[in-house]
Amino acid sequence: MEKYLGNKSSLLPLIDGFLRSRVPTAGSLLDPFAGTTNVSRYFRTRGWKTAACDVSRFSYVLARSYLGTNESPLFSGIGRKSARESQRRVLRREFERSTVKIGALYLPDQEPAEAFNALEPLSTVLANLQSIAELNRKPGPITSYYTKWGKRSAYTSVRGTAGHRNYFSKSNALFLDGALQTIRQWFISGAIDSSEVFLLLTSVLEEVVITANVNGTFHDFNRYRIWPNAEQSFFLRVPLISCTDTTTAIANADATSAAASFGRYDVCYLDPPYNFRQYSAYYHFLNFVAAFPFLPDVETYLDEVTHVRGQNPEDDFASDFCYRDRFVGALRRLIDNADCEHVVLSYYGGRNHWNHWARVDTPTDEGLHIINAVFADKTLFKESEVVSALDIRKNYQSRGGEQKSLVNEYLFHGVRRTRRRNPLDQTPSLPANDRFGLSEIFRPVFIGPPEPHRLLAAG
Ligand SMILES: C[S@@+](CC[C@H](N)C(=O)[O-])C[C@H]1O[C@@H](n2cnc3c(N)ncnc32)[C@H](O)[C@@H]1O
Repeated sequence: MEKYLGNKSSLLPLIDGFLRSRVPTAGSLLDPFAGTTNVSRYFRTRGWKTAACDVSRFSYVLARSYLGTNESPLFSGIGRKSARESQRRVLRREFERSTVKIGALYLPDQEPAEAFNALEPLSTVLANLQSIAELNRKPGPITSYYTKWGKRSAYTSVRGTAGHRNYFSKSNALFLDGALQTIRQWFISGAIDSSEVFLLLTSVLEEVVITANVNGTFHDFNRYRIWPNAEQSFFLRVPLISCTDTTTAIANADATSAAASFGRYDVCYLDPPYNFRQYSAYYHFLNFVAAFPFLPDVETYLDEVTHVRGQNPEDDFASDFCYRDRFVGALRRLIDNADCEHVVLSYYGGRNHWNHWARVDTPTDEGLHIINAVFADKTLFKESEVVSALDIRKNYQSRGGEQKSLVNEYLFHGVRRTRRRNPLDQTPSLPANDRFGLSEIFRPVFIGPPEPHRLLAAG
């Protein structure tokens, strides 16, 4: 999901270099704004214990797959008719192609063939799902609500413009309808469990991002035509998942309150939003896809879909970090709540709460000063520093290039004065998940060998 707003994949080696220089003994990471989960994924495949949290449901799905898969998924409840040899070859080739692009980040110690073989049952089910979805000709919710061929896709904007949503080509929408309804039926019939649904949805979500007729986010779509990316046929690839021993905690929750119920981690890596854009509005469609197989009543959910973008307004979350006047208070509470000795925060000094949107060409350093004041607060941190990404690259990372994208990127690092032991597993669920009957499926989970303090908490 390289197009995700604020995704840190290009900064991973740099964050790694920085952490190794500042906290060389660290082996565990709390990532409360996990998004694509790329940061946790990177450290997990280097042997770290991880914890990921995000308010977006789709991020939870990715986390369950990328961080929580500790053995080969079996899909034993589903009649796995063998995929055609030609389909398998294509899937294998695509998998290898991805490993060339991003394998150094997410599968550093594994041969692509070995990693693919461990996912063999998943690849067979995906190939079968591909065949089923390709044959679908019956419009379902995606075609109806999200394409111009649908009966329920009409919108009127606040400015009075009328039209039909135009998120997908017709064939891709029919495909997506077929894939999602099949996954839902398999889940409802008990043929697959929720962990298996998450694996299939990971493939679906990553392809939605590639083939949607949007300019990066789902806040709007190309109104008048289908762009070339959206003309590509939907293709379910095998995600680059590493099936290795893992210790991870995953939550779909508000970071500030969830931080108070995660265990002890060496590093808390903070990558919050820095402007007014609410991710739950910009990525509503991915959160709907993530919910689809589990919604007790899809029709009731869809009946409320509104706005040009086609979001159910009740399926939303207003993050404190997207309000200039709430940002610092929320950040302080989060830092205070997390049981982590080191806090590392990514700060982007471009368009943000403190650099007026209309005057981004002349950014001020007000935001830098404001965050600096939090890290300089001796009640929170006994020592702290801020380093620009360009300096980190110069000092801790040998690879050159990409200098331009690093301008305005900073890392703050603070060493906590005191920490507290958190009561575990008391993360409050999101109101939207409660409202739509999804809290049990999207509950906080801990995957891995039981830890002594968890046993104590349970006992
Ligand atoms: C800058 S992005 C993080 C990107 C991530 N590091 C990556 O590499 O993909 C910020 C993330 O914070 C999430 N978010 C915003 N407010 C939140 C909150 N109060 N609690 C938890 N997550 C939140 C958004 O959904 C988004 O995924």
